[in-house]
Amino acid sequence: MDIGLDIVEIRRIRRVIRRTPAFLDRVFTKPEIAYCRRHKDPWPHFAVRFAAKEAVWKALGQSGVALKDISVARDSRGKPGVLIKGRRARRLKLSLSHSEDYAAAVALQEDAR
Ligand SMILES: CC(C)(COP(=O)(O)OP(=O)(O)OC[C@H]1O[C@@H](n2cnc3c(N)ncnc32)[C@H](O)[C@@H]1OP(=O)(O)O)[C@@H](O)C(=O)NCCC(=O)NCCS
Repeated sequence: MDIGLDIVEIRRIRRVIRRTPAFLDRVFTKPEIAYCRRHKDPWPHFAVRFAAKEAVWKALGQSGVALKDISVARDSRGKPGVLIKGRRARRLKLSLSHSEDYAAAVALQEDAR
């Protein structure tokens, strides 16, 4: 079992995306971008997905996986899950939270049974 945690300043992500629009396509998948843009204020949602990718990357250890290969999906109640290159990673659990200034994510990689 391994765990990963990440915290992101929402205004930093907003600044990076505004200054370097290519960052969006380099890091986020199309469904993630569509989900974030659906909100009046998309920045907490982008920031928390960035935090999620880093938290999952940490939980995976030295896997060589790129941030864009890790994405956040949602079930019908809005609960987040992890996709690795579009495939559901069932043993990876994720929890996300955002406040006014910060977004945070924790990821847990369960052992294979
Ligand atoms: C879903 C819920 C837990 C989100 O909590 P919140 O404090 O409003 O918001 P947070 O910033 O901590 O978390 C937001 C993230 O929670 C995640 N989330 C949403 N629904 C979820 C669910 N059913 N289970 C787990 N995580 C969920 C999402 O990833 C969301 O971020 P995203 O929209 O960018 O993907 C909350 O709205 C809720 O329904 N709580 C139930 C208890 C309740 O009714 N409390 C109110 C009493 S006054």
